[in-house]
Amino acid sequence: MLVESCPQQTLQHVSAARQRGLLTGCVPTMGALHQGHVSLMQRARSECGYVTATIFVNPTQFGPQEDFSKYPRTLQSDLQLCEQAGVDLVFTPQTDQMYAADAETVVHVGRLTTLLEGAHRPGHFDGVTTVVAKLLMITQPHKAYFGQKDYQQQLVVRRMVRDLNIPVEIVTCPIIRESDGLAMSSRNRYLTAEERQTATALSGALRLAERLCSQSGAVPSVVEQQMQQMLLQTPGLVLQYAVLADPETLQPLPERVPSGTSCVALIAARVGTTRLIDNLLLVFG
Ligand code: PAJ
Repeated sequence: MLVESCPQQTLQHVSAARQRGLLTGCVPTMGALHQGHVSLMQRARSECGYVTATIFVNPTQFGPQEDFSKYPRTLQSDLQLCEQAGVDLVFTPQTDQMYAADAETVVHVGRLTTLLEGAHRPGHFDGVTTVVAKLLMITQPHKAYFGQKDYQQQLVVRRMVRDLNIPVEIVTCPIIRESDGLAMSSRNRYLTAEERQTATALSGALRLAERLCSQSGAVPSVVEQQMQQMLLQTPGLVLQYAVLADPETLQPLPERVPSGTSCVALIAARVGTTRLIDNLLLVFG
C-alpha cells in the first residue's frame, strides 16, 4: 500500500492505474476510521481494480465553534485498517497541500444545502463540496463511495457531480451500526459511558418511526411528533431536528401520503458536547 501526501504524485499514481486499464475507486474520509469506513473500502475493493482512500480533516467544513482542533487524529491505526481492507493508495495531505493561502474558489450547491444540516451548520456543505470536488480531481475515480450515515451529504455530492458533469459514479453504502443500534461515527469516541447509553435514543427513535410508518393509514406529522416526543423525553439529549422528508429533495412530506410512499427519517441531536446524526429509509404501510 502506498501512502502519499502530495496531490500531484497521487494523481500520477492513479493515472498510471487508469492507463493500465484498471477501474478506479475512491473512499474520501476524515480518518479516525471505524468499521463504517472499512465497509466503504471493502465495497470499493470488491468493485474496483485500484482503490484510493483519502484521509484529510478538512478545516473548511467545520464551523468556528465546532470540533476541528479536537477532531480525533489516529493516522497509524487508520493506515492499518486501510491496509487490511486492501486499499492500494492512501492520500493523506497536509492542509497547505490542499489549500493555497490565496485560494478563492468554492463549490456551492444551492437549495439542498439550506435545509437540516445546512441550516444548523452554516457553510458546512460549501466546505464539503469544495473538498470533495478537489479530492475527485486528485484521485480520478470511476466510482466514489459515500455512507448513507451522512444522508444529506451524499445527496449534495450527487447533485454537485450531476450539475458539474464530473465523470464519476457515486455509490451510497448502508449505515454500519454498533450491536445496540448506535450508528458508528468517529465522534462516538467523545462520549462518556453514560452519554454512550443516551445516544442509543437516536436509533431507538428511528425504529419507532419505522414501526409507526409501517401501519396502514400512518400520518407523517404524527409519526414525526412521536419521534420528537421520544427524543425530547430523553434526559441528557438536546434535540436539533427529527423529521420525515422526501428521500430525494429533503422537502417535508404532505399531510397524507399513499401506502408505498418512501421517505427518510433524519435526526440530529446533541449528547453532552457531541453532535450526533442518524437516519433511516422508511416506506409507508
Ligand atoms: P467522515 O465523517 O470520515 O466519513 C467518511 C465516509 O464514511 C462518509 O461517506 C460517511 O458517510 C461514511 N460513514 C461514516 N460513518 C459510517 C457508518 N456508520 N456506516 C457507513 N458509512 C459511514 O464524511 C466525511 O468524512 C467528510 O465530510 C468527507 C466526505 C470526507 C469530506 O471531507
